Amino acid sequence: MNTDNQKLLELRGLRTYFFTRQGVVKAVDDVSFTVEKGEVIGLVGESGCGKSITSLSILRMVPEPAGKIVGGKILFKNENLLEKSEEEMRQIRGNRISMILQDPMVALNQLLKIGYQLSEPLKYHGKAMGQIREKCIELLKKVRVSSPETRISEYPFQFSGGMCQRVVIGMGVSCEPDLLIADEPTTALDVTIQAQILRLLKRVKAEFNASIIIITHDLALAAQICTRVLVMYAGKIIEKAPVKVFYENSAHPYSNGLIRSVPVVGRRVERLYSIEGQPPSLLNPTAGCRFAPRCQKAKRICNLQYPPEVILGDGHKVACWLYAEE
Ligand SMILES: Nc1ncnc2c1ncn2[C@@H]1O[C@H](COP(=O)(O)OP(=O)(O)OP(=O)(O)O)[C@@H](O)[C@H]1O
Ligand SMILES: [Mg+2]
Repeated sequence: MNTDNQKLLELRGLRTYFFTRQGVVKAVDDVSFTVEKGEVIGLVGESGCGKSITSLSILRMVPEPAGKIVGGKILFKNENLLEKSEEEMRQIRGNRISMILQDPMVALNQLLKIGYQLSEPLKYHGKAMGQIREKCIELLKKVRVSSPETRISEYPFQFSGGMCQRVVIGMGVSCEPDLLIADEPTTALDVTIQAQILRLLKRVKAEFNASIIIITHDLALAAQICTRVLVMYAGKIIEKAPVKVFYENSAHPYSNGLIRSVPVVGRRVERLYSIEGQPPSLLNPTAGCRFAPRCQKAKRICNLQYPPEVILGDGHKVACWLYAEE
């Protein structure tokens, strides 16, 4: 099979910076990865490492004016999104690529009926003309909201948090996107609801054959749903691995620390903070590996030069001097 045909998204050397009074914050600093059709990518890493800014960059929704994409390419179906006009991007957002945010209560407008909000992307992208109501009911059924015929006339406050997240997922998939980006989609929900939402995402993926990028702190969640894991640290991706390889054979000392910080497999963790020390500031990062100051295995070179990406196996890559020739 030609792998290029399977490739849905490819980030090449993406750089997104914030130009602040204190200096330049390199939130996304030379990030490259691919997402193939039908894949579920888990983007994991500590708070502030650049996960959300990476996903906002893909949609060209980086907070302006401080934030700017300053380099690289975002190839979606072989076309560079960074060369698209704003109008072209509006046709892609919510249609070919859609995003589900952490808190469904923020994503939904409390003053508008569920049915109306569900119908907005459909109308905007010219789908299902004249049969909008039917289409909305069908969507609610797909995301397992019971009595959809009456519930489309209700308001978000009449829905529980988990039900609201179902509606948001319904909105996200209404135009049958090729790529769904879910930024901490379960963090605001309680544990039993999280499992339901996870099952729903899996089903949605199977049904629409969409690819998913799921951003999470929760390694147990990533293990359950992802096909591949990307570990981000201080604006860079430091390890990429198929999910099984990642959990059984992670290579980067930071990844190993992350995995160790999950107390019991299958139990959710709130924040992965148990690695000694703090993540570095993204203002004026050092030339070396950014994890080096916290790394127990750091060598001299680690503080001097950023490590090259080393291929360890099929789809398994790591940026670490422990595996590279100096
Ligand atoms: N508007 C902004 N101005 C300046 N810096 C910003 C701005 N927004 C984000 N940043 C910086 O960009 C970096 C990456 O932020 P991002 O939101 O992507 O982190 P994250 O990995 O999603 O964290 P979390 O897990 O807490 O959501 C952070 O260090 C943050 O301080
Ligand atoms: Mg975030």
